[in-house]
Amino acid sequence: MKKKLYYKSIVFCKLNVLNVRLEYLHWFKNKKRTKFIIKKPNSLIQLNNFVKKCNNNNDDDVLLVGIFDKIQNHLGNVKFDEFDLKKKSCTLGILTGDKKYLVKNNIKDILLGSVKFLKLYKKFSTINLGVNRLNIRARKVFFKSGFRFKKISSTGVITMSLKI
Ligand SMILES: CC(C)(COP(=O)(O)OP(=O)(O)OC[C@H]1O[C@@H](n2cnc3c(N)ncnc32)[C@H](O)[C@@H]1OP(=O)(O)O)[C@@H](O)C(=O)NCCC(=O)NCCS
Repeated sequence: MKKKLYYKSIVFCKLNVLNVRLEYLHWFKNKKRTKFIIKKPNSLIQLNNFVKKCNNNNDDDVLLVGIFDKIQNHLGNVKFDEFDLKKKSCTLGILTGDKKYLVKNNIKDILLGSVKFLKLYKKFSTINLGVNRLNIRARKVFFKSGFRFKKISSTGVITMSLKI
Protein backbone atom coordinates (compact mmCIF):
# COMPACT_ATOMS: atom_id res chain seq x y z
CA MET A 1 0.00 0.00 0.00
CA LYS A 2 1.16 3.54 -0.79
CA LYS A 3 2.41 5.17 2.39
CA LYS A 4 1.40 8.73 3.24
CA LEU A 5 2.23 10.86 6.24
CA TYR A 6 0.51 14.00 7.48
CA TYR A 7 2.54 16.37 9.62
CA LYS A 8 1.52 19.95 10.48
CA SER A 9 -0.78 20.35 7.45
CA ILE A 10 1.89 18.96 5.13
CA VAL A 11 1.50 15.74 3.17
CA PHE A 12 4.46 13.42 2.55
CA CYS A 13 4.51 10.57 0.04
CA LYS A 14 6.87 8.99 -2.45
CA LEU A 15 7.27 11.25 -5.46
CA ASN A 16 6.17 9.66 -8.72
CA VAL A 17 6.22 10.60 -12.38
CA LEU A 18 2.67 11.97 -12.19
CA ASN A 19 4.07 14.74 -10.01
CA VAL A 20 6.50 15.82 -12.72
CA ARG A 21 4.92 19.02 -13.99
CA LEU A 22 6.19 22.22 -15.59
CA GLU A 23 6.02 24.04 -12.28
CA TYR A 24 8.49 21.56 -10.79
CA LEU A 25 10.85 22.02 -13.75
CA HIS A 26 10.63 25.80 -13.29
CA TRP A 27 12.06 25.56 -9.76
CA PHE A 28 15.45 25.02 -11.38
CA LYS A 29 15.18 28.35 -13.17
CA ASN A 30 15.60 30.25 -9.90
CA LYS A 31 19.33 30.88 -10.28
CA LYS A 32 19.90 32.25 -6.79
CA ARG A 33 18.30 29.37 -4.93
CA THR A 34 19.59 26.57 -7.12
CA LYS A 35 23.12 27.93 -7.50
CA PHE A 36 24.60 24.96 -5.67
CA ILE A 37 22.79 22.24 -7.59
CA ILE A 38 25.33 20.81 -10.01
CA LYS A 39 23.10 18.75 -12.31
CA LYS A 40 19.90 20.57 -13.26
CA PRO A 41 17.28 19.09 -15.58
CA ASN A 42 16.56 21.09 -18.73
CA SER A 43 13.38 19.34 -19.78
CA LEU A 44 10.42 17.41 -18.44
CA ILE A 45 11.89 14.27 -20.00
CA GLN A 46 15.09 14.65 -17.98
CA LEU A 47 13.12 15.32 -14.81
CA ASN A 48 10.88 12.36 -15.51
CA ASN A 49 13.91 10.11 -15.94
CA PHE A 50 15.36 11.32 -12.66
CA VAL A 51 12.15 10.51 -10.76
CA LYS A 52 11.83 7.13 -12.50
CA LYS A 53 15.40 6.23 -11.62
CA CYS A 54 14.86 7.12 -7.97
CA ASN A 55 11.76 4.92 -7.85
CA ASN A 56 13.27 1.88 -9.54
CA ASN A 57 15.31 0.83 -6.58
CA ASN A 58 13.01 -0.90 -4.07
CA ASP A 59 13.84 1.74 -1.45
CA ASP A 60 17.32 0.31 -1.13
CA ASP A 61 19.28 3.15 -2.68
CA VAL A 62 17.05 6.21 -2.77
CA LEU A 63 13.86 7.43 -1.16
CA LEU A 64 12.49 10.48 -2.96
CA VAL A 65 9.84 12.15 -0.85
CA GLY A 66 7.32 14.48 -2.47
CA ILE A 67 5.97 17.19 -0.19
CA PHE A 68 2.56 18.76 -0.76
CA ASP A 69 0.13 21.02 1.02
CA LYS A 70 -3.46 19.96 1.69
CA ILE A 71 -4.65 21.17 -1.70
CA GLN A 72 -1.87 19.30 -3.49
CA ASN A 73 0.44 22.23 -4.23
CA HIS A 74 3.91 20.77 -4.61
CA LEU A 75 6.08 22.37 -1.88
CA GLY A 76 9.32 20.54 -2.50
CA ASN A 77 11.16 17.25 -2.31
CA VAL A 78 13.51 15.59 0.10
CA LYS A 79 15.82 12.86 -1.09
CA PHE A 80 17.35 10.26 1.19
CA ASP A 81 20.19 8.10 -0.10
CA GLU A 82 23.57 6.59 0.85
CA PHE A 83 21.78 4.26 3.26
CA ASP A 84 24.24 2.63 5.63
CA LEU A 85 22.55 -0.20 7.45
CA LYS A 86 25.49 -0.83 9.78
CA LYS A 87 25.82 2.76 10.94
CA LYS A 88 22.05 3.26 10.74
CA SER A 89 22.62 6.46 8.81
CA CYS A 90 21.74 8.06 5.50
CA THR A 91 22.16 11.30 3.61
CA LEU A 92 19.51 13.95 2.99
CA GLY A 93 19.07 16.54 0.26
CA ILE A 94 16.29 19.12 -0.06
CA LEU A 95 14.84 21.22 -2.84
CA THR A 96 11.92 23.51 -2.23
CA GLY A 97 9.67 25.05 -4.85
CA ASP A 98 7.66 28.19 -5.27
CA LYS A 99 7.95 30.51 -2.29
CA LYS A 100 4.27 31.42 -2.50
CA TYR A 101 3.34 28.02 -1.08
CA LEU A 102 5.91 28.13 1.69
CA VAL A 103 5.02 29.92 4.85
CA LYS A 104 7.48 30.87 7.55
CA ASN A 105 8.99 27.84 9.31
CA ASN A 106 7.52 25.49 6.76
CA ILE A 107 10.96 24.28 5.72
CA LYS A 108 11.73 23.09 9.24
CA ASP A 109 8.42 21.17 9.23
CA ILE A 110 9.23 19.81 5.78
CA LEU A 111 12.57 18.48 7.04
CA LEU A 112 11.19 17.02 10.26
CA GLY A 113 8.16 15.52 8.52
CA SER A 114 10.42 13.94 5.91
CA VAL A 115 12.48 12.33 8.63
CA LYS A 116 9.25 10.91 10.12
CA PHE A 117 8.30 9.63 6.67
CA LEU A 118 11.69 7.95 6.30
CA LYS A 119 11.02 6.14 9.58
CA LEU A 120 8.05 4.40 7.95
CA TYR A 121 10.62 2.64 5.77
CA LYS A 122 13.86 2.48 7.74
CA LYS A 123 14.88 2.70 11.35
CA PHE A 124 17.86 5.02 11.24
CA SER A 125 19.42 7.04 14.01
CA THR A 126 21.56 9.55 12.10
CA ILE A 127 20.78 11.74 9.11
CA ASN A 128 23.78 13.34 7.44
CA LEU A 129 23.94 15.95 4.73
CA GLY A 130 26.52 17.78 2.69
CA VAL A 131 26.12 21.50 2.08
CA ASN A 132 28.38 23.96 0.32
CA ARG A 133 29.80 26.39 2.88
CA LEU A 134 28.57 29.30 0.75
CA ASN A 135 24.99 28.00 0.72
CA ILE A 136 23.99 30.22 3.63
CA ARG A 137 20.23 29.78 3.09
CA ALA A 138 20.48 26.02 3.38
CA ARG A 139 22.90 26.13 6.31
CA LYS A 140 20.51 28.38 8.25
CA VAL A 141 17.52 26.17 7.53
CA PHE A 142 19.42 23.01 8.52
CA PHE A 143 20.74 24.55 11.72
CA LYS A 144 17.25 25.72 12.72
CA SER A 145 15.99 22.19 12.13
CA GLY A 146 18.53 20.67 14.51
CA PHE A 147 21.38 19.64 12.18
CA ARG A 148 24.81 20.27 13.63
CA PHE A 149 28.25 20.82 12.09
CA LYS A 150 30.43 17.71 11.81
CA LYS A 151 33.29 18.55 9.48
CA ILE A 152 34.30 20.56 6.42
CA SER A 153 36.10 19.14 3.39
CA SER A 154 38.95 20.78 1.51
CA THR A 155 36.44 21.62 -1.25
CA GLY A 156 34.21 23.58 1.14
CA VAL A 157 31.50 21.00 1.65
CA ILE A 158 30.20 21.02 5.21
CA THR A 159 28.87 17.80 6.68
CA MET A 160 26.04 18.33 9.16
CA SER A 161 24.14 15.68 11.02
CA LEU A 162 20.96 15.13 12.98
CA LYS A 163 20.41 12.41 15.60
CA ILE A 164 16.86 11.09 15.51
C1 LIG B 1 17.89 25.32 0.83
C2 LIG B 1 16.45 25.77 0.66
C3 LIG B 1 15.52 24.61 1.07
C4 LIG B 1 16.23 26.94 1.64
O1 LIG B 1 14.94 27.44 1.47
P1 LIG B 1 14.69 29.00 1.18
O2 LIG B 1 13.22 29.18 1.03
O3 LIG B 1 15.55 29.43 0.06
O4 LIG B 1 15.19 29.61 2.51
P2 LIG B 1 14.94 31.09 3.01
O5 LIG B 1 14.75 32.04 1.88
O6 LIG B 1 13.87 31.01 4.08
O7 LIG B 1 16.32 31.40 3.66
C5 LIG B 1 16.72 30.74 4.83
C6 LIG B 1 17.43 31.75 5.70
O8 LIG B 1 18.60 32.22 5.02
C7 LIG B 1 18.54 33.65 4.94
N1 LIG B 1 19.18 34.03 3.69
C8 LIG B 1 18.71 33.91 2.44
N2 LIG B 1 19.63 34.36 1.56
C9 LIG B 1 20.70 34.74 2.28
C10 LIG B 1 21.96 35.30 1.95
N3 LIG B 1 22.32 35.51 0.69
N4 LIG B 1 22.83 35.57 2.96
C11 LIG B 1 22.49 35.34 4.25
N5 LIG B 1 21.30 34.82 4.63
C12 LIG B 1 20.41 34.53 3.64
C13 LIG B 1 17.07 34.01 5.02
O9 LIG B 1 16.86 35.33 5.48
C14 LIG B 1 16.57 32.99 6.02
O10 LIG B 1 16.94 33.37 7.32
P3 LIG B 1 15.87 33.41 8.52
O11 LIG B 1 15.32 31.99 8.61
O12 LIG B 1 16.67 33.78 9.70
O13 LIG B 1 14.83 34.39 8.10
C15 LIG B 1 16.12 26.26 -0.78
O14 LIG B 1 16.85 27.43 -1.05
C16 LIG B 1 16.45 25.26 -1.84
O15 LIG B 1 15.67 24.36 -2.13
N6 LIG B 1 17.65 25.41 -2.48
C17 LIG B 1 18.09 24.57 -3.57
C18 LIG B 1 18.62 23.22 -3.12
C19 LIG B 1 19.67 23.31 -2.03
O16 LIG B 1 20.55 24.16 -2.06
N7 LIG B 1 19.57 22.38 -1.08
C20 LIG B 1 20.49 22.33 0.05
C21 LIG B 1 21.55 21.33 -0.11
S1 LIG B 1 20.91 19.70 0.07
